[in-house]
Amino acid sequence: MNDFAQQVIDWQQQQGRHDLPWQQAITPYKVLVSELMLQQTQVSTVIPYFQRWLARFPDVETLAQAEQDEVMALWQGLGYYARARNLHKAAKAIAELGAFPSDLVSLQQIPGIGRYTAGAILSFAYDAYGPIVDGNVRRLFCRYFALEGHAGQSQLEKRLWQLAEQLTPAQNNRRFAQGLLDLGATLCTARKPDCERCPLQADCQAYRLQQVEHFPRPKPK
Ligand code: ADE
Repeated sequence: MNDFAQQVIDWQQQQGRHDLPWQQAITPYKVLVSELMLQQTQVSTVIPYFQRWLARFPDVETLAQAEQDEVMALWQGLGYYARARNLHKAAKAIAELGAFPSDLVSLQQIPGIGRYTAGAILSFAYDAYGPIVDGNVRRLFCRYFALEGHAGQSQLEKRLWQLAEQLTPAQNNRRFAQGLLDLGATLCTARKPDCERCPLQADCQAYRLQQVEHFPRPKPK
């Protein structure tokens, strides 16, 4: 395994988050629900919504059969309501298939499941190889490799996915993916990053340049 992955995995085991509700008795459905809820919303806000959602719609079939009105009502307050419509559509498509997809290509054919969510489901639900790049991973990689370019720039996004594919190990994918997100959320934060506690400090290019807060580059106005 590459050193980067090993450091992320060891740190996750010792310092990462292990008590989030979607980490308990993991199913692909719970990962799908939590990942869509977490896309534009922070963990502390999502937790009560996730718990109410699972109580009312415990599995894909229950959600697939629910009325749109009830689905939207349970999402009320989380915002970005397209996510709820997509989640409902995804549940219908998966129920139609008869089994939860478990490879990258089939996952990405489900409405509402893009490259990130497909990778997250593979990593978290199946503990399988599933590269992920979200805002947390982008920030961490931009710093670690001192990458130029800003969010949304196609050259940078291409490079980030390439790095994710190379660095994602063949084993321990759940811990690796959770470690990347935990590092991004707790140490490699947008403001006031806590580099002194970071397991990646020794090889972090932005740290070496004393430029951590200058990566990722801001979008030009
Ligand atoms: N953000 C997106 N996915 C997450 C996860 N599994 N745990 C914590 N934060 C997340």
